[in-house]
Amino acid sequence: MGKKLTISTIKNSKGQKPLVMITAYDALFAKLLEPSADMILVGDSLNMSFAGKSDTVSATLEQMIYHTNAVCMGAQNSFVITDMPFGTYTSKELALINATKVFQQTQADCVKIEGGADKADIVTHLTSNGIAVCGHIGLLPQSVRSEGGYKVKGKTTEEKEQLIKDAKAIENAGAFCMVIEGVKAEVAKVVAEAVSIPVVGIGAGADVDGQVLVFSDMLGLFEAFTPKFVKKYMDGATLVKNALAEYAEEVQNKNFPKEEHTY
Ligand code: KIV
Repeated sequence: MGKKLTISTIKNSKGQKPLVMITAYDALFAKLLEPSADMILVGDSLNMSFAGKSDTVSATLEQMIYHTNAVCMGAQNSFVITDMPFGTYTSKELALINATKVFQQTQADCVKIEGGADKADIVTHLTSNGIAVCGHIGLLPQSVRSEGGYKVKGKTTEEKEQLIKDAKAIENAGAFCMVIEGVKAEVAKVVAEAVSIPVVGIGAGADVDGQVLVFSDMLGLFEAFTPKFVKKYMDGATLVKNALAEYAEEVQNKNFPKEEHTY
């Protein structure tokens, strides 16, 4: 999307222009989506859509570093966010050791951590040591096992108040933006209005400061399941399968390669 965004351009975008965030896990797709995205998220969702696991919990720091390097190679003009995987920020000291590895071994512009007020001291410790942080509140995929599933948040007054507290705590701790996931739209709107940094939604309605989607969901490549909040902008799985079937048929019928594909 033109010039690479910075922490301050992202912060200043609030109220001006919705932010476009898309995930990528490799150089090929990072390059393809770079012209359309303000920010590329190397999400730990790669553990599901890339590595085939059933949730994000088993993603490792090494995986995140490997994929972040690939994304940074493919999209050298993009603002890149790397997810800190489960178990890598259980204390502020551990978070700093691991986030420092991400910064030293990749060109990531910031890290993302899941959690609200309970993670504020960790966000403060990272930001005061030169690591920019994107928060992630609401439905937290890394808590899927402890919560017994993916549960939409903001359904009760208590949950709404907690989300507002979480957003304010993350902002006060120094985060420059945050993701809000799986939250009732009317509550996400109130949360976004309660802070002065951009709140980027996924499954949180239209009244926030931007949207993020997992690229393999929005391109219709991931077939295992489709959450309600996903819009498929193309039927990627069908397109890919049809192309592969055509190739297989042409190989079997000796219709490929032709003269123009031959030295
Ligand atoms: O891992 C990921 O892709 C994410 C998005 C769902 C926001 O955290």
